[in-house]
Amino acid sequence: MKIDIITVVPEILNGPFSHSIMKRAQTKGLLEVNVINLREYTTYARAQVDDYPFGGGAGMVMMIEPLVNTVESLQKTTHYDEVIFLTPDGETFNQKMANHLSLKNNLLMICGHYKGIDQRFRDHFVTKEISIGDYVLSGGELAAAVLTDSIGRLIPGVLNDETSALSDSFQDDLLAPPVYTRPETFRNWKVPEVLMSGNHKNIDQWRVEQSLERTRLRRPDLLKD
Ligand code: ADE
Repeated sequence: MKIDIITVVPEILNGPFSHSIMKRAQTKGLLEVNVINLREYTTYARAQVDDYPFGGGAGMVMMIEPLVNTVESLQKTTHYDEVIFLTPDGETFNQKMANHLSLKNNLLMICGHYKGIDQRFRDHFVTKEISIGDYVLSGGELAAAVLTDSIGRLIPGVLNDETSALSDSFQDDLLAPPVYTRPETFRNWKVPEVLMSGNHKNIDQWRVEQSLERTRLRRPDLLKD
């Protein structure tokens, strides 16, 4: 899968994909992430990419022309399955959307900045608008990193143990059960006995019960359906 990310602050995206699972996904050739600097595609003086909003008001608006130049230039060599604009007024991202997007070949993500981007770009180029939660970030970069990470780790072969993504929280609308590792006793706090029993039927049953209980207490909304 290829994920191209258009931004005016490429530096923010230097770190998130250079380590751990995201790094491995790229080394294995399963994921390619390209960060594209919008300013390299503007024809305006001083690499300008934003301007005052028509009708007045606070904040700057990202201009349509540099965005279209960038997207159309990229589209010469890549067909994108989705052109995603990260924005707080988009559809709220969840695991189901991550699963769905992990099956695509090419994704393009656009990071907004300032007060937003010219609505005509949203109307004519964007195919999906996604928010990562009900709060406002300074720009879409961190949201694009969140999407890329959560989608990238679901690509088959990226995680060592294929089943480990299946037992993540939210995969079956349940939160994951608690986990423990050595030592068996620490300050008199013991690991639940069932986990030491070697009886996998009982362990599986305990984990399901714990998942249900945790979900009921913390996220009863997930159990409504
Ligand atoms: N840009 C600013 N805030 C955002 C959010 N909550 N989700 C996605 N993109 C954003």
